[in-house]
Amino acid sequence: MCGIIAVVQERGDVAPFLHQALKRLEYRGYDSVGVTTIANNKMYTKKDKGKIEEVHRRLNLDEMPGLIGIGHTRWATHGAPSMSNAHPHFDCENKIAVVHNGVIDNFMELRKNLSEKGHKFNSETDTEVIPHMIEDLMKEGLNLVESIKEVTKRIEGTYAIVAMSTKENDKIVCTRDGNPLVIGTKSGASYVSSDIPAFLPITNDMILLLDGEIASLTNQGIHIERLSDGEIVSRDSIKISWTADQAQKSGYPHFMLKEIHEQPDAIRKTLRLRSETIETAARLIREAENVYILAMGTSGHAAKAGRHMFASLSGILPSFELASDFQDTVYGSLSERDCIIAITQSGETTDTITAVKYAKHYGAKIIAITNVVGSSITRLADHTVLTQAGPEIGVAATKTFMVQLTSLALIALALGEMTGFKESEEIVKKRSSLEKLPELVSEVISRNEERARKLASILYEKPSLLFLGRGVSMATAEEGALKLKEIAYNHAEAYSAGESKHGPIALVQDGYPVIFVVPSDETRNRIIGNIMEMKARGATIISVTQKEDVEITELSDYVFTVPEITEAEFSVMPYVVPLQLFSYYMALRNGYDPDKPRNLAKSVTVL
Ligand code: F6R
Repeated sequence: MCGIIAVVQERGDVAPFLHQALKRLEYRGYDSVGVTTIANNKMYTKKDKGKIEEVHRRLNLDEMPGLIGIGHTRWATHGAPSMSNAHPHFDCENKIAVVHNGVIDNFMELRKNLSEKGHKFNSETDTEVIPHMIEDLMKEGLNLVESIKEVTKRIEGTYAIVAMSTKENDKIVCTRDGNPLVIGTKSGASYVSSDIPAFLPITNDMILLLDGEIASLTNQGIHIERLSDGEIVSRDSIKISWTADQAQKSGYPHFMLKEIHEQPDAIRKTLRLRSETIETAARLIREAENVYILAMGTSGHAAKAGRHMFASLSGILPSFELASDFQDTVYGSLSERDCIIAITQSGETTDTITAVKYAKHYGAKIIAITNVVGSSITRLADHTVLTQAGPEIGVAATKTFMVQLTSLALIALALGEMTGFKESEEIVKKRSSLEKLPELVSEVISRNEERARKLASILYEKPSLLFLGRGVSMATAEEGALKLKEIAYNHAEAYSAGESKHGPIALVQDGYPVIFVVPSDETRNRIIGNIMEMKARGATIISVTQKEDVEITELSDYVFTVPEITEAEFSVMPYVVPLQLFSYYMALRNGYDPDKPRNLAKSVTVL
């Protein structure tokens, strides 16, 4: 949430780079945007409410002088989206500029003290206390780094902070606690950003900044210190394998559509994960007394599907818990014999990170499944499975969901081999069917895209839809309903088809759309009964089913089809794809930008 970028370079104005980098970070928030540069010892600022290109059309973000600058794209927490609440924020004399991601919990008290000392505030944000505190500290004789060190002792909450001052006009200073920052390096320039894609077209060399560290970036180099004891940190840069092209739309109208189409390749790459990585995860699970899978949102749906895979292939049934509610569910009943599987594509979701820290406190072992190298979760985990989706820019998760499922399937198979719950020939058969999934998903996309577009043109005005499935297909139904809600804003609800007659059926009347997920597994025959119940009440029946399933096709008004029988455990992967496409086209028909759903951000770093 909120995207930060800063750069200091030897030659050329930084403004055009900051503008482009902010566009690459816009998925983190798009309530307002702002850029400040320093030239001739003066701050130049352009900021306003609205998406980056709207603001650029009004203010021309490319024309600002200076070899050093910071930028911010905001997801509002404190104060409505407005020009005055847009970052950067400044001290009273406009000599210190700060951008921030996170929440300063004690800002009211700090603001009161600063106001009493005569500081004038221009925004309602929690962030603005920071430049005013730095102002006082610099007046007392501290330099920028020392002032920020002192500020970190006074603020409570979570933050990634980047600051610069006209008094030290060749330097960017940044620190973090609980929110991400990565440093990019290249000869003649240094960058700091909330996320890797911001500087990908310029450099693949990255240095991790950890919580509790402070870095200063100048053209002379990068200096990192630990805040707790002032120890100098020497850390090598790492090469990121992501490419700039992966973070471009490459001819697609939206990132979401591009990322749906990239799913076969993402699965293929994740299937090539090293077997030791998968086996270590399986061993930790096998050795545990209790296993919990924690996640939020779409990652939670992957977790629920994973639970079915584990039970069916290995005989181990982990508990699924929403990370946000974990502490309030387990009440401290954890021990060092337990294992947590935390699934988070960004690796930064505060709900998940907080739950993991809680479990670590009891000594539980942590397995992280994430898509982002060096993300916060990887530093908490005993073992990380790094999925291979490449950068996902669309706010609605699609390909990262697919690779979470792929890695869970690999772990479930390895676990199955260890426990012997299934005959080994059965495991071999399942593995070979998993390996066919890239081609299968590819065919599902080509077979269903036009149907999704047409169905959206028929259903886009429907105020509410039901998504029903049974068993593992509940995860498919839930993910389908979430995608539709978040990008097309049609109300959508997912239920177990078994549960539907216990209440939700009261909603159904003539023409009410009900989407059934019906793979050819052991749930199919029972779902037919549920379809009949809905049909009898006038529902419009839409099914996602196997191509040859004549019976389901005849019972349905519209069908999406999956060309081949899929092993039940892995059916979410092909069956969710038509629902992703349907949501995408519903968003378009409703006139919304699927890449930037309202009120959402890609990485949710508040509790
Ligand atoms: C939905 C979506 C969110 C995320 C959730 C968890 O499309 O993207 O529901 O799945 O915020 O995010 P991660 O996986 O980064 O922890």
